[in-house]
Amino acid sequence: MDLSSFPFLTPSPTEKLLDFSAGSLWMKRDDLIHPDVSGNKWRKLKGFFREVDPSRPVLTFGGAHSNHLRAAAFAFAHASIKGIAVVRGEELSPQHSPTLKYCEKMGMTLHFIPRSEYKVLREKDWLPTARQLQEWDGESAQVLPEGGAGKHAFEGCGEIWTELDHKPDHLLIASGTATTVLGILSAMPEGSATKVHVISAVKGAIKEQASVTECAHQKSIDLHWEDEVYFGGFGKLSEQLIVQKAAFESKHGFAIDAVYNAKVWAYIQRTTFEGSVLWINTGGVFTP
Ligand SMILES: Cc1ncc(COP(=O)(O)O)c(C=O)c1O
Repeated sequence: MDLSSFPFLTPSPTEKLLDFSAGSLWMKRDDLIHPDVSGNKWRKLKGFFREVDPSRPVLTFGGAHSNHLRAAAFAFAHASIKGIAVVRGEELSPQHSPTLKYCEKMGMTLHFIPRSEYKVLREKDWLPTARQLQEWDGESAQVLPEGGAGKHAFEGCGEIWTELDHKPDHLLIASGTATTVLGILSAMPEGSATKVHVISAVKGAIKEQASVTECAHQKSIDLHWEDEVYFGGFGKLSEQLIVQKAAFESKHGFAIDAVYNAKVWAYIQRTTFEGSVLWINTGGVFTP
C-alpha cells in the first residue's frame, strides 16, 4: 500500500548532545517519529505495510506492555485494516495496562490466551492452527510476528543507516531481538569504518549475539556486544540506573525509556570513546 499518508517524522533528526575531551555525542531522534509509533517501531513495520493486503485482517502478537502492539494498533487504524492481537496471559483484560487500553481504543480486537499456548505459537513461527484462526475471526488473516520481526523489518531498519548524512566513528544501539541492529548492518557497506556497539537489554542473549556477530564479521565491520550483566536482566532497573536516567533527563530536557535506552546511556557513562559517537534512540516513552 502507499505509505505516504502515514504521519511519521522520517528522516528523523540527528542532534548533538554534548562534547567530550576526544569527540562528541550525537543522538538520532527516532523517538520523535510519532508519539505512539515511537523509535524502531515504524522502522520494523514499514516493509510489512508496503506489502499488506488492506482488505484482509492482520493477526499479531504481544504481551500486555508491548510497544509493538501499540504501534501496530495505530498503524492498522490509520490504514483502516482490521487488526487482531493475540495477547499472552489468559487472566488479563484490556484494563490491565495502558497499552491494551490504547489498542482497544484504536479498534483492535484482543484475544487473551494462556502463556503455554503463546509459547507454542512462538515455537511455530506465529503460524496459528485453523481452529485458532476460526476462533479469533481471522480465517483470512495475514500474520505479523511478535515485535514486528521478520525479513520485512530489515528494509525500514536499514534506513536508520541510509538516513545518516555523516557516518559516525561509533554507532550505539539498544537490542532485544536484534532485528533493528541486523537491519542496520544489512544496510552498511562492507568494511565500513563505523564501529557498531550493541547494548543488549537482555542478559545472555546468546542466539542474537551469534547472529549479529556473524553478520558483522561477514561484512568486516567492527562490533562490540555488551551483555546485560549490570542491572539484573531484561526489564530490571537498579537504583544507580534510575539516578543516571534522571540525570540525563534533567540535563537534556526529554525522557528516555528505562528498559532499553537508559542502559545505552549507562554504557556511555562507563566507556571511553574517541571521535563521533551516534546513539540511535529507539524510543519507547509513551504518555498513557
Ligand atoms: C524501545 C525499544 N528499543 C529497542 C528495542 C529492541 O529492538 P530489537 O528487538 O529490534 O532489538 C525494542 C523492542 O522492540 C524497543 O521497544
